[in-house]
Amino acid sequence: MSRERYAAVIGWGMAVPSRVITNDELAQRIDTSDEWIRTRTGIRERRVASPGESTSTFATAAGREALAMAGVDATTIDTVIVATCTPDRPFPATACTVQANLNIPRATAFDLAAACSGFVYGLTVATSLIKSGVSRRLLLIGADIFTHYINWDDRNTCVLFGDGAGAVVLEATDQPFGLIASNLSADGNLEDLMAVDAGGTRMPLTAELLAEGRQYVYMNGREIFKHAVREMSDSAMQVVQAAGLTIDDIALVIPHQANVRIIDAVARRLEIPPERVMINLDRYGNTSAASIPIALYEAAQQGRIGSGDYVLVTAFGGGLTWGSGVVRWGRPAQ
Ligand code: ACO
Repeated sequence: MSRERYAAVIGWGMAVPSRVITNDELAQRIDTSDEWIRTRTGIRERRVASPGESTSTFATAAGREALAMAGVDATTIDTVIVATCTPDRPFPATACTVQANLNIPRATAFDLAAACSGFVYGLTVATSLIKSGVSRRLLLIGADIFTHYINWDDRNTCVLFGDGAGAVVLEATDQPFGLIASNLSADGNLEDLMAVDAGGTRMPLTAELLAEGRQYVYMNGREIFKHAVREMSDSAMQVVQAAGLTIDDIALVIPHQANVRIIDAVARRLEIPPERVMINLDRYGNTSAASIPIALYEAAQQGRIGSGDYVLVTAFGGGLTWGSGVVRWGRPAQ
């Protein structure tokens, strides 16, 4: 009789740029203040990539650390997935660059684009590949340099985002570890609530479009706020139930780090106390697909999650996309 396969998280890593931009620094350039940014978003500072640093720079560093922590040789990785909406180049996939940088020979390598929900989407895809037997040991990275699309004169967006990468190594096991339940959704009818219009095939870049600033991200913050609270909390509640658990079984919620007010509202709806909700956006801002794996990394390093704990991840992003997952953290005893 074949035994059920799971995908345990056996290693994790993160990497962020060294350049820090504080709220006060932004306030010197645009009409904003540390007080406004902190009270409206919870963000105090963010990390911003410097010229010469690309998405693969941080994805590679995070992946290298995750492999080292897992104690596995790069040659044993059979699949590399990079969740990103800010790839190094339109093609080839940033995952191919990371694969080459880490000397992972002949692995499957591809990017996955689901904006800020990319890591939660990636976790589901990665786990499915392992469960189906296509993959045995996989490197999943969430990485974005969102500031590449930021107009630093637009106070509505430039205060919100930061750059970075987080990675996990997943490995096949017959023990119930890793992602045990998930749900993913999207509503493309709401695609214009947040987007970058120019630079793709629909609207190739021209000098005129560049002069109009159409290469930058725009968003309807208020509308996104409302959808984010509703969809994250609904999908989180559904996934906890699908895992056969209650919210009391969850050691820590790791929400996408977009805005502390969104996170607080989701926590209230889930009826989970603040001490069981991870927040690190004060130091990183919204790092898009990197936000959940960076928060997972810090939660594990701080001892807030340990082997066998149930962790609830929940995300939303451009698309709109959203989804949640319950992860049984750590690796089974050998
Ligand atoms: N400093 C000072 N004032 C500002 C700033 C700023 N940085 N930004 C906006 N304002 C002003 C606005 O112009 C507005 O002024 P007005 O009333 O004179 O027009 C006022 O502050 C209030 O604006 P609101 O939009 O009501 O502010 P709100 O409380 O909604 O906060 C925010 C805005 C922080 C953007 C919030 O709506 C939010 O976080 N939304 C979610 C956005 C998000 O998470 N997007 C990422 C999606 S994930 C992904 O896919 C990458």
